[in-house]
Amino acid sequence: MPTYDQAIREKMEALRHSPCVRILSLETSCDETAAAIIENGRVIRANIVFSQIDLHALYGGVVPEIASRAHVEACDRVIDEALRQAGMTFDDIDALAVTYGPGLVGALLTGVSCMKGLSFALRKPLIPVNHIEGHISANFLSHPSLEPPFLCLVVSGGHSHLVQVADYGEYHLIGQTVDDAAGEAFDKAARVLSLPYPGGPRVDQLAEEGDPDFLPLPHPHVPGRYDYSFSGMKTAFLNACHTMEMKGMELPKADLAASFRKAVVDSLVGKAELAIQDTGTRRMALAGGVSANRLLRRRMQEVCDTLGVPLYMPELGLCTDNGAMIGSAAYYRLMRGETADLTLNACPSLRLL
Ligand code: KG4
Ligand code: ZN
Repeated sequence: MPTYDQAIREKMEALRHSPCVRILSLETSCDETAAAIIENGRVIRANIVFSQIDLHALYGGVVPEIASRAHVEACDRVIDEALRQAGMTFDDIDALAVTYGPGLVGALLTGVSCMKGLSFALRKPLIPVNHIEGHISANFLSHPSLEPPFLCLVVSGGHSHLVQVADYGEYHLIGQTVDDAAGEAFDKAARVLSLPYPGGPRVDQLAEEGDPDFLPLPHPHVPGRYDYSFSGMKTAFLNACHTMEMKGMELPKADLAASFRKAVVDSLVGKAELAIQDTGTRRMALAGGVSANRLLRRRMQEVCDTLGVPLYMPELGLCTDNGAMIGSAAYYRLMRGETADLTLNACPSLRLL
């Protein structure tokens, strides 16, 4: 009987030449427990997302310990549900994939441990996936014809990166935030407006009815040509809201939300436009939770139309955390012969580059 390592090596080599590879993927980096089954990196056979929003809403944000416990309880269920949705059993699955960073250490560990156990028991290769690479790969699911190279603006709760995707699994970072991530800034603004967690989508919704010129916000100078900074505009926003409250004014929430959204989106789109022009990229993409933002999608579309560059955006359900994007990224890692062994650990501060 071959050892686990021998069995995995043989299966991986066979899969690299197989016309049909089905990957069962698990994502538990933050507050969504999600499983998916993805065929050849492009076709979604199942996609199950169990959101923990209700568990954390009471506290106004993600409580790491509660997230870990909820993942432990939900992992098996989302995997079973994914198999049921696809009408498959473990026998139909060729390989397994799991997010191993970046994210909350306890949350990541539950997913990594679960998939290492499955990999050992089923003797199926396990592919470790970087969460940010997953977000970028969501575009491969929404746009089956999209191929690298392209430029991607990755904007989530923890990241605001401008990334050159040179090839599958090959990235060059050309810009990033020097302080807060865009999603983090949206969430803080939402808190000041007393909007419930998660704040970003609520600010976006409210902003649709507000006046974006109500409160002009500063755009701090950042040394890097494609770098971002959201901390200054966030502080100016908080101060303006507090001043209004101290004067006994009722906060014009829709106008404030619209002003804040405009400031963040102006900054994101401005640097992305510069990068498109400077690099001469022929395709632009968005990724991450904030890529669901309506104004960002509209404004990027306008810019790309003007520059004659096609814009690729994940469909709304694939912008925020999900398992499908992890299964897509995993396929291209598998094709490069990259699998984990059973020493795989969670890497909370894993970088893409
Ligand atoms: O990618 P994601 O689901 O998780 C991380 O990897 O961080 O992104 C979550 C972030 C949160 O900060 C959330 O408020 C923000 O994305 N977000 C939005 C919108 N939808 C989600 N921010 C602005 N507008 C939205 N429509
Ligand atoms: Zn994410």
